[in-house]
Amino acid sequence: MNFQRLWDKGIAPHPAVIEFTTGNEKQTDLQLAGWDIAGSLAHVIMLAKAGLITDSEKKELMNALHSLFEKYLKGGFVIEEGVEDIHSQVEKELSDMIGPSGRKVHTGRSRNDQVLLDIRLFTRAAIDNLAGTTHNLFNRLISLSNQYREILLPGYTHMQPAMVSSFGLWFGGYAEALTDDLLLLSAAGKLNNRNPLGTAAGYGTTLPVDRSMTTALLGFEDMIYNSVYSGINRGKVESAVASALASLGNTLAKFSMDICLFMTTEFRFIEFPDDLITGSSIMPQKKNPDVFELVRAKCNLIQSLPAQVSMIINNLPSGYNRDLQLLKQLIFNGFDEIIPCVEILTFMLGEIKIRRNILDNPQYNSIFSTEEVNRMVRNGIPFRDAYMAVSGILKNGSFLRTMTSDYTHEGSIGNLCNDRIAERESEIMKSFNSIPVKELVERLMKHL
Ligand code: ARG
Repeated sequence: MNFQRLWDKGIAPHPAVIEFTTGNEKQTDLQLAGWDIAGSLAHVIMLAKAGLITDSEKKELMNALHSLFEKYLKGGFVIEEGVEDIHSQVEKELSDMIGPSGRKVHTGRSRNDQVLLDIRLFTRAAIDNLAGTTHNLFNRLISLSNQYREILLPGYTHMQPAMVSSFGLWFGGYAEALTDDLLLLSAAGKLNNRNPLGTAAGYGTTLPVDRSMTTALLGFEDMIYNSVYSGINRGKVESAVASALASLGNTLAKFSMDICLFMTTEFRFIEFPDDLITGSSIMPQKKNPDVFELVRAKCNLIQSLPAQVSMIINNLPSGYNRDLQLLKQLIFNGFDEIIPCVEILTFMLGEIKIRRNILDNPQYNSIFSTEEVNRMVRNGIPFRDAYMAVSGILKNGSFLRTMTSDYTHEGSIGNLCNDRIAERESEIMKSFNSIPVKELVERLMKHL
C-alpha cells in the first residue's frame, strides 16, 4: 500500500508535477495539523455512531489520533518527504500505527471537505486570537483618550487647520474605528463557524454520515447544508475574512500615517523615547518613525487581500478546483502579518509623549473662528450673517480668539462617550469564544 498519495492508483505521477502542485503547501498545511487531528477525532466518533466502524476500531483510531496529537503538541509532527499534504500525513501515521483500522479513517469523507473543515477550525481560532490582540489596542486607545481628553489639538480638513480637536477625540476616534473592525471580524467569524464536514467531495456521500453530530462535536454554530454550497463557500468565507483584515489594516495604516505626520519637526505634537525611534547612518540629528512606516506599508498591503482573494475565486466554476489551495497561504499570511502590527502599536502607544499647549501658537488662532460664529448664532444672529461678520474680522486681521470648550453633544471634545464606545466593544468581544485546539481534543477524547 502506498501512502504517499491518497489518490495513488498505481501510476506514479511525474515528480515535476508533484513538486509544482505541492509547492510550499507543506509549511502552510503544518499549521492545520492540530485541527486535522481534532476533525478526524470527531469524524471517527461519528463513524462509530453511524455503524460504519466498530467500537473497537473507534477506540484504536481515537487512541492513535490522540498520540498523534501529543506528538504534535511536542513539536514532533512533520509532513514527511514524499507525502503530499497534512491529510495524507495523518492517514499515513494512523495506518503505520494501527494498520487496517487506520485505513478506515477516510470513510465517508474527501480531502475537499477535510481541508474545508481544517481551514474553518483554524480560521475560527485565528479570528479570536486577532480579536484578543485588537482588544488590547482598543483598551490602550480608550485609556489614552480619557487620560488626554483635555489636551487640545488642531483638527485638519484638506490638510489645513480647520477646527479645534483634542487628543481625547483623536485617540477615541481610532478606538471607535476598531469596534467596527471587530464587528466585521465577528461577522466573518459567524460565516466561518459552520460545519462543512460530511459534504465529501462537494456532492455528499451514499454512506449515512451524521452531520448534526459532527457539527455539535466540533462546536460549530450550524452546518453548511448544501453539499455544493459547501464547496462554493471556500473563498466566500476567505473573502469576508480578507475584508475584515483589510478594514483593520486601513485603521492601523491611517493611524500610523497620523503618527508619522504628528512626529515631524513641523508638527511636533507627539514624540517617543529615543530607544523606540530609529536613526540615520549619515545624519546624526535624525529621529525616524520606522515602526509606524512599516506598519503603514504592511497594513496597506493587507488592504490588497480582498482583491487577491477575488482574483483566485473569480469565474471559477462550482465544485472543487485546485486554484482554491492558494487561498490558504493568503489568509494565513494575512493573520501572521497583521497581528505583530497590532501588537507593536499597542506597545509603542504605552510610551507616547504628548505635547501640551499646542494651540497657544497664534498660527492656530483662526481655527476658533467657527466657535465665534456659533457664539453669535446663540445670541440670535442668523448663521449666514454671523459667518460673514467673522469672515470680515478675519480678513482685517482683528480676530481675537476666545478659548472655549463648550462642546457638549455626543462625540464632541466635551463629551467623548468613551464609556458607550467601550460598552459596544465589549458586546462585540463576547462573540469571540471559540474552543482552543487542546481543549477541543480533550473534550472529544471523552467520547472514547
Ligand atoms: N491541498 C488541497 C487544497 O488545499 C487539498 C484538497 C485536495 N483536493 C483535491 N481534490 N485535490 O485544496
